[in-house]
Amino acid sequence: MTKCVERPGKVFFANSGAESNDGLIKVARRYGHRKPQPDGKPRYEVLTFNKSFHGRTLGSMSATGQDKIKIGFDPMLPGFRHLPFNDLETAREAIRPETVAFMLETVQGEGGVNCVTPEFLRGLAQLCREHDLLLLMDEVQCGFGRCGDIMGWRAVAPDVEPDGISWAKALGGGFPIGGFWISDRAIDGQGTELSSIMDPGSHGSTYGGNPLGTAVGLAVLREVVSQGLPERARRLGAEIRREIESWNLPVVQGVRGLGLLLGIGLNPEMVAAPEGKTIASVVVEALRQEGLLSVPAGPETVRLLPPLNVSEEEIQQALAIIRRVLKTYAK
Ligand SMILES: Cc1ncc(COP(=O)(O)O)c(C=O)c1O
Repeated sequence: MTKCVERPGKVFFANSGAESNDGLIKVARRYGHRKPQPDGKPRYEVLTFNKSFHGRTLGSMSATGQDKIKIGFDPMLPGFRHLPFNDLETAREAIRPETVAFMLETVQGEGGVNCVTPEFLRGLAQLCREHDLLLLMDEVQCGFGRCGDIMGWRAVAPDVEPDGISWAKALGGGFPIGGFWISDRAIDGQGTELSSIMDPGSHGSTYGGNPLGTAVGLAVLREVVSQGLPERARRLGAEIRREIESWNLPVVQGVRGLGLLLGIGLNPEMVAAPEGKTIASVVVEALRQEGLLSVPAGPETVRLLPPLNVSEEEIQQALAIIRRVLKTYAK
């Protein structure tokens, strides 16, 4: 079967993406105890990015770089700082003695369909090597084909080797399952494996790894690989993007994304939103009225996330609806 990562590692299965990210945060904290600060205090700080989305448990919500999901739930868990995305210099300067990991999405889905650049991702990997930090990829939305490769970051910088990865969504193809992978790379001169720091009892869940969920996950992965869905997502995503761009509609301010995770940027001067609504939610509702389900990504972007096995005919139908709706927004 296609390899998701080059190195061997271990997987803890979970029930959702947020829970999988909580698992990665626990790995980072454990690592910070194993490899403490010079004065012996544990390292604990996980650096994440503005506009990121990592889930709605207390841990994953604290990791998230968006205030709107935190309203009314203060105080957040300590030990997170949010930095500007794709700004390597700021990331370098942000590292402090207590810092233990970077955590990021390949494409910030919820935050506006913002793609990580290859330079930034490679630069973070280098910073991790220099400062003994963990590189944690949240692949909950991007993983398993969505971005045009079996893993999202591999579509951007396939040479990067994360230390931990979280999964959910496409792993179950609609069935609730998540998981997080931890690399087996050696963390000291004795060959101690990173994954071994999560020893028995350090993490667990009643239904994590249940036979039904994992059988579904395996069946889904076999389909994703045997049908070549990652390559298909790459080809279809590029076609959709080219088509929307070719319309040259003034309401469209660029199409962003990777594979079948696409965002249509909207011109805020051309769409009016009533009090309490965003222009993205207005257009998403207009598309829904015409029979197409989409979802906002931030206030000014419509996100397209078709199923990976969407037919070409369905794509044509969707494009016709998108064009019809977007054409109604004229100066
Ligand atoms: C990047 C990312 N991380 C984490 C999550 C949370 O996953 P779940 O809703 O399964 O808890 C999501 C959900 O949209 C996501 O997009």
